[in-house]
Amino acid sequence: MINRQRILNLLAGCQPGRSLPQAFYNDPEVYEFDVATILTRSWFMLGFTAELAGPGSYISVTIGPHPILAVRGRDGRIRAFHNTCRHRGAQICPEGSGSSPRIVCPYHRWTYDLDGRLMAATRMPATFEASSHGLIALRTEILSGCIYVALSDAAPDFEPFRAAAQPHLDTYRLADTKLAFESVLTEKANWKLVMENARECYHCLTGHPDLKISFPMVFEGGLTPVGSDPAVFENLLRSRGLSADTQAGSWWHVGRYPLNPGIETVSMDGRPVVSTPLMDTGGHPLGGFRWATDPNTFCHAFSDYVFMFSALPVGPEETRVISKWLVSSQAREGIDYDLEKLTTVWTKTNLQDRALAENNQRGVNGRGYRPGPYAPGAEELVIRFNDWYRATARDAANAL
Ligand code: FES
Ligand SMILES: [Fe+2]
Repeated sequence: MINRQRILNLLAGCQPGRSLPQAFYNDPEVYEFDVATILTRSWFMLGFTAELAGPGSYISVTIGPHPILAVRGRDGRIRAFHNTCRHRGAQICPEGSGSSPRIVCPYHRWTYDLDGRLMAATRMPATFEASSHGLIALRTEILSGCIYVALSDAAPDFEPFRAAAQPHLDTYRLADTKLAFESVLTEKANWKLVMENARECYHCLTGHPDLKISFPMVFEGGLTPVGSDPAVFENLLRSRGLSADTQAGSWWHVGRYPLNPGIETVSMDGRPVVSTPLMDTGGHPLGGFRWATDPNTFCHAFSDYVFMFSALPVGPEETRVISKWLVSSQAREGIDYDLEKLTTVWTKTNLQDRALAENNQRGVNGRGYRPGPYAPGAEELVIRFNDWYRATARDAANAL
């Protein structure tokens, strides 16, 4: 049972523009509040339609304590469900991905069709109504090859985000890609510390020596690197029919940004890592496209690959980070791309970020921790994340 008044008192102690009070980063009751309320009022990016090649292909992930499942039906449609059996509640599909002609619970073999209907439940009486024991569906949105789900109707309107992101995402033809690699990391840090770190590059100059070869390290705010001339980048994009506008809602943020001068993609040396590109750049480096949604995801698309980062809360001081790399469906491993060259820069960056987040957690847990001020330009996106969290938490606490 969550003590509503305690949560409201803690929220009243938060200061805009500063990191959160200690309890928000390590207290079991605040964590319980987060998974019961924040996570049920949000959209989560599960991955890409390209991962679900044919009927019966599924992705299974756990959001906080909530196991969920996205599966492609025989009609080609992707649906998401709670991955919890309607008999006695066992988790049906194991975490990860796979393919099966039916969704079969491993406990007593209740069997569901790919559209969630219960097809078979042996030894149940004749009076049993299979039709009222189908899998519980989740709100599902497909955005240019990306799969988003929400655990309840309390999640916000998806359409403003779709309208802003789709024109950009369509240029990468994500439906015609394939998953080249996926990594799963466990981080001993609260999910909000992992996300605050993921929302700023204040730490990048010293924290990411490999990323800095290709990725701009100092942004003026938003997605404009210090020292770059926005007009030059805008004209280049415009000549390719692309918009340079950054757009944002309370829980999402999309925009294009230039890479370091002359750099074509984010890799260890800045040179392309896949010879079959996702888009035709006409020989001009077009930078990256970033789309991010709260509470837990950011993605970058480059001309040759896409990178997705997703942080899933596991406990008050534990977070699972799932990363995915997408390449053209035509790209052949070992011929058109080398897996190590494709993945090294973000793998190193992830490991560096894990060390930073875990170190942040250790300091925050001490008696000496006091919420500190964010840098207005360098941590603008952290300020946005923090504003979103406090507003969503306040609404949720008032509704408890
Ligand atoms: S819990 Fe799934 S069949 Fe019994
Ligand atoms: Fe980082």
